[in-house]
Amino acid sequence: MGFREELAADAAQLESGGRLRILREIAPEGHGLCRCDGRTYWNFSSNDYMGIAADAELRKRFYAEYPDTATPELALSSASSRLLTGNTPAYTRLEAKLSERYNHRAALVFNSGYHANIGILPALASKEDLILSDKLNHASIIDGMRLADAEFRRYPHLDCDRLEAILRQKRADYRRVFLVTESVFSMDGDTADLRRLVELKKLYDCILVVDEAHSVGVRGPKGTGLAAELGIADEIDVLIGTFGKAFGSTGAYAIMAPETRTYLINHMRPLIFTTGLPPAVLNWSCFVLDRCAEMDAERAKLRRMGETLRQAFGANTIAGDSQIVPFRIGGDREAVEKANYFLENGFLVFAIRPPTVPPNGARLRFSLSAALPEESIEQLRRLI
Ligand SMILES: Cc1ncc(COP(=O)(O)O)c(C=O)c1O
Repeated sequence: MGFREELAADAAQLESGGRLRILREIAPEGHGLCRCDGRTYWNFSSNDYMGIAADAELRKRFYAEYPDTATPELALSSASSRLLTGNTPAYTRLEAKLSERYNHRAALVFNSGYHANIGILPALASKEDLILSDKLNHASIIDGMRLADAEFRRYPHLDCDRLEAILRQKRADYRRVFLVTESVFSMDGDTADLRRLVELKKLYDCILVVDEAHSVGVRGPKGTGLAAELGIADEIDVLIGTFGKAFGSTGAYAIMAPETRTYLINHMRPLIFTTGLPPAVLNWSCFVLDRCAEMDAERAKLRRMGETLRQAFGANTIAGDSQIVPFRIGGDREAVEKANYFLENGFLVFAIRPPTVPPNGARLRFSLSAALPEESIEQLRRLI
């Protein structure tokens, strides 16, 4: 078989197992709606949790801040890495705003959450170190661990007792031990016990890295995330947030000690060897950080909708209190059929299948947005 035939055979095999991924064209229409294949749907699949990305009015207000759209502040490329000439004033402003938001700790902006996660651990963790990671951590964290020289182990999802047992047994064998977790988990919508993790990191002298991709914007004062909601953000050694989800922008950031920031600037390859973000994107991120800070009513609405949907799904969901509400199915084909049923009824929701979730863990992932009207949840309930 030639190269192309081999690839075609792979696609055929994926298709026969109900696992072939395709790229669909989807146009956001705002107000929780989107257009796909000539039809309008309630969008239950976006990570635009606060409805910012699809808010045309907000975009207008952002552009209105610049009387001359030719301003360098709206430039669409930075044309260089940050360490060459790509570190535009918009970076300085955005990092200063983030630092102010997080109790004046140091902030560093990256091109995406993926860049952050494949760069931070490989930079900080070396051969004499151990990384302990929740079993359900995002693929980008797994890729980061694979790139790092340190050993890594995955502990059972949310199981801090097991984590402590590993620490008790292994801590003394390593120079540094990194504990890595998401705060709100992207596929299960449940939350890590961050207080316990902080206790463990103190007790066993570890470094705690928390990926708040699905909680910044949605949780905490001014949308600063779950750790901030619990009053322990300062205890997280590296707190990662992303701009591409609730903030409706692009990029990511980490909050840390100034020494960690300097170290990453000098050693983190996905920061050093990539073109920086365009000023237009950085300024939009700055703008949405301010808008999002004012959105307590939307955060409360999201919580309410999450509770209603969880109740409606009953035993078919996973306990949690976030805006991500899974509907467990199990088999890949059944999940695709169920997703099609919701599609036929005007709800855009996708089947999430292995390898994104464990084998037999196929599910529909309903992700809520404050832009959705609460009656859309009522309509959805009637379909279950
Ligand atoms: C937990 C988590 N971390 C990181 C990322 C990657 O973020 P980005 O989309 O900004 O690359 C994602 C995205 O899906 C995620 O769910």
